[in-house]
Amino acid sequence: MVHRSGGTRDASAPPDAPDRHSPPRSFVEQANVTDDSIYETFDEEWPDCWRRAASLLSWDRPYETVLEDDDAPFYRWFTGGTLNASYNCLDRHLEAGRKNHAAIRWEGKHGETKTYTYRDLYVRVNELAAALRGLGVEGDDVVTIYLPMIPELPIAMLACARIGAPHSVVFAGLSADALATRMDAAESEYLITCDGYYRRGNAFNQKSKVDNALLSLEQDVTTAVVDRLGDDLPHVLAETEFDYDELVGEYRGETVEPVSRDAEDMLFLMYTSGTTGRPKGVVHTTGGYLAYVAWTTRTVFDVEPADTYWCAADIGWITGHSYIVYGPLALGTTTVMYEGTPDYPDRDRLWEIVDRNAVDVFYTAPTAVRAFMKWGKEYPEKHDLSSLRLLGSVGEPINPKAWEWYHEHIGGGECPIVDTWWQTETGGVTVSTLPGIGDMKPGAAGPPLPGIVTRVVDADGNEVDPGESGYLTLTRPWPGMARTLYDGGDRFLDEYWRRFSDPDAGEWVYESGDAARVDEDGYVTLLGRVDDVINVSGHRLSTMEIESAVAAVTGVAEAAVVGRSSGPGGTEVYAYVSTERDADPEAEIRAAIEANIEESIGRLARPESIVFTPELPKTRSGKIMRRLLEDVSNDEELGDTSALRNPEIVGEIQEAIRDEETGDR
Ligand code: PRX
Repeated sequence: MVHRSGGTRDASAPPDAPDRHSPPRSFVEQANVTDDSIYETFDEEWPDCWRRAASLLSWDRPYETVLEDDDAPFYRWFTGGTLNASYNCLDRHLEAGRKNHAAIRWEGKHGETKTYTYRDLYVRVNELAAALRGLGVEGDDVVTIYLPMIPELPIAMLACARIGAPHSVVFAGLSADALATRMDAAESEYLITCDGYYRRGNAFNQKSKVDNALLSLEQDVTTAVVDRLGDDLPHVLAETEFDYDELVGEYRGETVEPVSRDAEDMLFLMYTSGTTGRPKGVVHTTGGYLAYVAWTTRTVFDVEPADTYWCAADIGWITGHSYIVYGPLALGTTTVMYEGTPDYPDRDRLWEIVDRNAVDVFYTAPTAVRAFMKWGKEYPEKHDLSSLRLLGSVGEPINPKAWEWYHEHIGGGECPIVDTWWQTETGGVTVSTLPGIGDMKPGAAGPPLPGIVTRVVDADGNEVDPGESGYLTLTRPWPGMARTLYDGGDRFLDEYWRRFSDPDAGEWVYESGDAARVDEDGYVTLLGRVDDVINVSGHRLSTMEIESAVAAVTGVAEAAVVGRSSGPGGTEVYAYVSTERDADPEAEIRAAIEANIEESIGRLARPESIVFTPELPKTRSGKIMRRLLEDVSNDEELGDTSALRNPEIVGEIQEAIRDEETGDR
């Protein structure tokens, strides 16, 4: 059992150890959770403790059982209960007399702003729900949404939820191939997308990507197309494609009864990278997921309905699903949604938005914090950030230097920071301090949340001693956990449960794929992925997926892709390529590799470096030694190379990297 902090200091550390920060009194005085007995209560009352999360929602029919585990690890939460997610995010706030409260404050790329009150959002969601029904969408039809950060994206999610159709949002920056793979895997016959969007001031054609994707699909697809660019990008619609505004216009003022869903019915699917090239369709449910994100938004982000809360992520990933859309809206707060980038038109863009909207809680990724740090404190200093009360970090470990900078220059030294560890599969935050209770230790995410149990184990599944690194596992189920993978329960078992569980003993252990260590005080420090998944600027990518895109290029004999640390916490993609004998010149192959990665995954996966080498390092049995390439890329001491069949190649690769880095190719 992992020891928790419970907010008390580690007895072995001096009380004023410079690396610990206590939450300021001003914060604690107003915090949603301040009593550290919550850890014990959740322990003693588990799993009934999760009734508290469920009680944040309005149920059509009360649930009978909190947790059913007879088919573990296919756990079922709040069984017997029924509810509707869109009702919980909209109608009930209207009924509570909060119809004119701002639900979404949208900040466009070019300085446009739009505020949707709860009533506005309700009207839009209902009209789209009616329109989707009109197109033939029924409960359980997967609707794919391929939109950038425009208001139609959360509207579409909630409209699907209203009629009981699971959505599958595909990040707008992913390629046509990636869209097609996901629609194919989900057998999705409905798509909501747009003509294009602005990228750094230029019109970017999204519709042409869609056209390409649809060409490769077997199923017929009905598409609604948002006209984001107007005259900047004229487009022609085919017979099964509808202009979004015209379509919704036919249903003006219509309302649709929210469909009561079983707690365990799928709310959405979210594809994420796994260890193989095939993305995993993570299934989240209506009751457990919604209860869990509402609960964590309240406890971890300390959100109250009166707050203006800003999670500066993209809704195309899980962070945005849970903490831009479902969590904040379930609680009836105001959520900010930003379409642009942090440095356009200038590097103070985010702080200008915080200032103008009087944002209370701000949540971003360490990559962003490191960029702010590099740009300098003069940008935040131009604005009044005193409305901020709490800051959050997610996606990668935040190095202490970036933590301190964030704390001082964005939080004015007065805001606690929650370093939240979680994953697409966990649905919501699972490891973090509670901001009104626990001390913060820059670099360590914190103890597991109340009700969550983490265990760091060695390769045999035995718990390691404090301070030692190992595999991070979760040993108790929680309501927000993924229920299965859309492509089948077997894969779900293989990917997450087989390695450390003991089914005969009824012991199910969830393997996160991350390495971590736990200190004496129970704080978990994340040490990066242990599998072939890498995090690049907050995007989760599979090295295998990139590798297949590289290997598919004509002239490439073999390829290996690894993550390279780009300074504290950051990772970039390095591709190692050997070419065929009569291949085209390297420059052409390089361009073809970049183009193919962009086409099959998206720009975000383009390698920082493509290193050409006569051969890849291989073991005597012919396996590529990726670990060695990782060490070489990271300039680390090379471990045991005795298994190498071609040890001489190491020096050549090191030289090729130097040439690549100095541009001396
Ligand atoms: O490696 C961990 C890292 O992000 C992975 C999950 O990625 P994804 O499913 O895309 O979800 C991202 C946002 C929840 C994890 O396996 N990660 C996430 N949060 C942290 C983190 N690494 C260190 N510290 C964190 N706070």
